[in-house]
Amino acid sequence: MNAPQALSRWAGPGSSRVPFWAYTDPALYQRELEKIFYGEHWCYVGLEVEIPKVGDYRLSHVGERQVIMVRDRVAPRERDTDPGIRVVENRCAHRGVRFCQQQHGNARSFVCPYHQWTYKLNGELAGLPFKDGVPATGEDGQPCVNGGMPEGFDLKQHGLTRLRVEVLHGLVFATFSDTVEPLRDYLGAEVMPWLDRIFQGRQLQLLGYNRQRIPGNWKLMMENIKDPYHPGLLHTWFVTFGLWRADQKSRMVMDAKGRHAVMISRRNEGGENRTVTQGVTSFKAGMQLNDARILDVVPEPWWTVPDPSRPGESITPTVTMITLFPSLIVQQQVNSLSTRHIVPRGEGEFDFVWTHFGFTEDTPEMTRRRLRQANLFGPAGFVSADDGEVIELSQDGFRQWGQGGETLCELGGTGTEMTEHMVTETLIRSMYAYWRQVMGE
Ligand code: FES
Ligand code: FE2
Repeated sequence: MNAPQALSRWAGPGSSRVPFWAYTDPALYQRELEKIFYGEHWCYVGLEVEIPKVGDYRLSHVGERQVIMVRDRVAPRERDTDPGIRVVENRCAHRGVRFCQQQHGNARSFVCPYHQWTYKLNGELAGLPFKDGVPATGEDGQPCVNGGMPEGFDLKQHGLTRLRVEVLHGLVFATFSDTVEPLRDYLGAEVMPWLDRIFQGRQLQLLGYNRQRIPGNWKLMMENIKDPYHPGLLHTWFVTFGLWRADQKSRMVMDAKGRHAVMISRRNEGGENRTVTQGVTSFKAGMQLNDARILDVVPEPWWTVPDPSRPGESITPTVTMITLFPSLIVQQQVNSLSTRHIVPRGEGEFDFVWTHFGFTEDTPEMTRRRLRQANLFGPAGFVSADDGEVIELSQDGFRQWGQGGETLCELGGTGTEMTEHMVTETLIRSMYAYWRQVMGE
């Protein structure tokens, strides 16, 4: 066994061996916050449908910074170009208080409880008590003014931190960066058709939330959804009922920088195929459902789209798992749809917020079906409870080793190309190739 070595830079070329310290080093994590979450990246904050009316707001996070996603008043003539969605930091410009405590609500303005500084919905400072001092009578008996802010105090200079915002198909993204490229360019031409497939031309309907806290590094969640190797092995549910197995038709897509990805696959009928089930301990040939409605899958018209990489052909996936670096997963698993938001909390922990949605055009039966299938996911989901657990176990493994050691991601080689199968860890390698560039490691 190798002795734990001093923390060093990434040992070799490429990205197929990820050092354990990439998950466990607190100082590195602080740099990740600056360079990734607060740097030249767009971060998901929520869905437009969560704040339908003027004044509606919802708390969210960009990295560890808490932000407020709020719907502002917009003049009628500007509504075509400005949906009125603002994202401001939940940190008072006076003494730094995290002033908003309600998870969601409706407000005419935001008032900090400490000294009552009041902000408009767009984050501008509207006013503050005693700005011009308090009238009094001086020792000489003459009227005077006590205190107040200095002469020339400009409200405009003391608003909340306002983030740049872009809304794509009802998904709200924000960034602290003034220079990052427009959102569509950031997401890239390879990934956009898969977002269009789910969202374009449809109004979303909010179905509900799950939240969980997972004791692992935030990148492990991104890896998990870029890892087509594990679902047919770890997840009894997937391998037994055929929702995801190595014998399915699949495709691994990534953007030009390798940071975002789409795992695309089409389910088969389950049951035994000895090449992918033999010896797989999670395959339970005799397992039956007590309530078969959870797998009452009904194909939807929007599943079939022109194949972006094969002109003239169409494609009908049953699963698309989209990872948008650094913190969003958009999931379609048969009739279940959700966004999953990664909120890091130190190098060894993150919150994971699931927002389940459907479409306003759904029949009541389809809404029930989506809700039933949502039981596969979330903290206690029949499938995804397994992922939370292995992420915790991964972090435990890294921590117990100390500072040396590395993970091995060499299924399908060491390259970072797209593939037409799922027997590969290419999407993990491509993310770390990008991460190394950003982090200078
Ligand atoms: Fe917010 Fe003083 S800290 S008003
Ligand atoms: Fe999984």
